Amino acid sequence: MIFVDACLRKKTPYTPIWMMRQAGRYLTEYRNTRLKAKNFLDLCQQVPLATEVTLQPIEILDVDAAILFSDILVVPYEMGLELEFKENFGPKFLQTIQGKDSLLTLRENAYKRLEYVYDCVSSVRKKLSKDKALIGFSGAPWTLATYMIEGCGSKSYEKSKKMLYSDKHTMHTLLEKISSEIKQYLAMQIKAGADAVMLFDSWANALEATKYLEFGWKYLQDITSYLKTEYGEIPIIIFPRGVGAFLESLEGKFDVLGIDWQISMKEAKRKVGSKFVLQGNLEPARLYDYNEMEQGVKEIVEVMQNRGHIFNLGHGMIKDLPRVNAIQLVKLVREISSKYA
Ligand code: CP3
Repeated sequence: MIFVDACLRKKTPYTPIWMMRQAGRYLTEYRNTRLKAKNFLDLCQQVPLATEVTLQPIEILDVDAAILFSDILVVPYEMGLELEFKENFGPKFLQTIQGKDSLLTLRENAYKRLEYVYDCVSSVRKKLSKDKALIGFSGAPWTLATYMIEGCGSKSYEKSKKMLYSDKHTMHTLLEKISSEIKQYLAMQIKAGADAVMLFDSWANALEATKYLEFGWKYLQDITSYLKTEYGEIPIIIFPRGVGAFLESLEGKFDVLGIDWQISMKEAKRKVGSKFVLQGNLEPARLYDYNEMEQGVKEIVEVMQNRGHIFNLGHGMIKDLPRVNAIQLVKLVREISSKYA
């Protein structure tokens, strides 16, 4: 599998590519499958439907890896927080974590109630061709904690920060609970057939560096050390969004670091390219215009030269991006990067 080889810094004939949120509303096929489910959560839980949408980007775009179709928020949902995905609003938890006492309402062993995820992993792996990888994933503890505290996406993270600075003990207890679920959750995905796993820390950018290292990164290190001890050969990808200012301080037992679009690949390579394989980082909005996209691809591929690189967007696909450009993107990356074989 060229994707797995690249994660492990082995030589590949071209740079493998996949896209964050590659399954989604910009694909009519996705919208059609979604109509068969009651709502978004139901789509994640109905194994045949989740399998279908996981495979769509492989068939349509011919990317090198499929990513399990699910959402990072199924973990807090199974920890006992009721969840709704509202149209044009996004996710919303009906209960939230407010302080020490509310931790008692969380249910243990959430990972045991996530069989629908493991079933989707094994059903996709059965249908996927041998040369394509399947990526399993989880949200990172800090990002999941902010959703559990705020109840929804946030611009200022006031409640989470209030807890972090004024009730540090409760914050750490919450992060520990989430981390121990994630360890088992990812281990189960690996056992079900995931070829690599990824941790999304989308709200890493909410914190000052020292606090991110203490409340975010430390837990990621703990999870990746556990997984590397148990499943050493499975590549681990970490995507801490918005940490360009302190990239050099990130250390840990994992293989691939996801780079968001706010830092140039050239700078990222200079700072951490010898420590980790880098994944990224085309600004997704470049896909609105073919020439902008082509220019962006050239810059990234010429910097990375098909060494220690997995091509991806610098954040998720946007719902109104033209699919033709997503298809072209895959071809372009293959064509340009194969010159550096
Ligand atoms: O990448 C993939 O194709 C795999 C599936 C996937 C989804 N969400 C599907 C999804 C993955 C890996 C995620 C991760 C996720 N979910 C993150 C981390 C990555 C990031 O974007 O920073 C976060 C923060 C979430 C939480 C979440 N889920 C939000 C904020 C939303 C609303 C987004 C929107 O555009 O409405 C979701 C819903 C969601 N998750 C959709 C999809 C395809 C859209 C749901 C729909 O069909 O209406």
